[in-house]
Amino acid sequence: MAILFRSTPAATARWRPLLGELMPEHEFRFWPEIGDPAAIEYAMVWQPPPGLLASLPNLRLICGLGAGIDHLLRDPELPRHVPILRLVDPYMTDAMSEYVALQVLRLHRQDLDYLAQQRAQIWEEREQKNGAERPVGILGFGTLGQDAGRKLHALGFPVAGWSRTAKEIAGFATYAGADGLDALLAKSEILVCLLPLTAATESILNAGLFARLPRGAGLVNAGRGGHLVEADLIPALDAGRLSGAVLDVVREEPLPAGHPFWSHPRIIVTPHIAAETHPPTAAAIIRDAIRRFAAGQPVANLVDPAQGY
Ligand code: NAP
Ligand code: GLV
Repeated sequence: MAILFRSTPAATARWRPLLGELMPEHEFRFWPEIGDPAAIEYAMVWQPPPGLLASLPNLRLICGLGAGIDHLLRDPELPRHVPILRLVDPYMTDAMSEYVALQVLRLHRQDLDYLAQQRAQIWEEREQKNGAERPVGILGFGTLGQDAGRKLHALGFPVAGWSRTAKEIAGFATYAGADGLDALLAKSEILVCLLPLTAATESILNAGLFARLPRGAGLVNAGRGGHLVEADLIPALDAGRLSGAVLDVVREEPLPAGHPFWSHPRIIVTPHIAAETHPPTAAAIIRDAIRRFAAGQPVANLVDPAQGY
């Protein structure tokens, strides 16, 4: 029995020594050297080439090397009968919350304006609210959204979360569905997107949604690039409809040279680093899940393919 590992060359170099140490009972095949495909029962993958998983006739479990699994569902040849495990790692959750807290604080404390003032050597104070007066809305109130929400709440921000199914979570205003979205948007001075990319959430961050936010709201997208209608962002910023946008994810990654997002004064771009997979913790989580699966025990965090996340 063998496990296929496929990720970027840099990630593969980081994972390779850990896997042999943590899972000595398994033989690892590192893509593209997969050997006999019939021997592979488990696959640990990030953005596998389309058709790769379908070429493994005895595959029993697909372990995504990230929290989001849209990269797997995009494969038209994905073997739909094979269960998919997504990565839920508290280390990664903490990282995302740090990122969200940092970016919400930057928008809240008018960091873009002060950076511009510094470049122009302008020493001038701006009117500033407290966090308690700056409601934050989080689209996607799951593992990452709720943790980020708790940490923003601890900083004093009123936090509301939007999810697909209704929830009651002490300390938060929670919303679900289309009506719920309107209510959340109406009061979100900073909007954070931590949604999975699915047919229902694709292009959700668009001009129509921006128009339902309070004028001058800030946006943080750490979900997926496909959530944002990119052509709608700069017009919304230039019109003052939005005051700033932080993008950790974009439709084409890396963001192409010369893309207007690189140089727009009210856009902060980071290279999809909000919550990177952390091999030392992730490898142990996946090892335990594979052991449970192999023993026929229930495994947490299996994806619901019908919902797309
Ligand atoms: P999760 O636990 O599955 O949470 C997803 C949340 O989105 C849930 O609250 C879910 O609602 C909600 N949702 C899904 N479809 C919806 C819809 N149509 N309408 C309203 N809400 C909807 O996932 P997670 O672990 O928090 O991860 C979320 C996403 O973050 C990932 O899929 C990935 O795209 C992104 N991510 C980005 C990075 C990065 O570095 N930038 C790192 C990790 C993850 P229910 O609660 O009702 O199911
Ligand atoms: C990263 O984007 C992930 O989904 O883990």
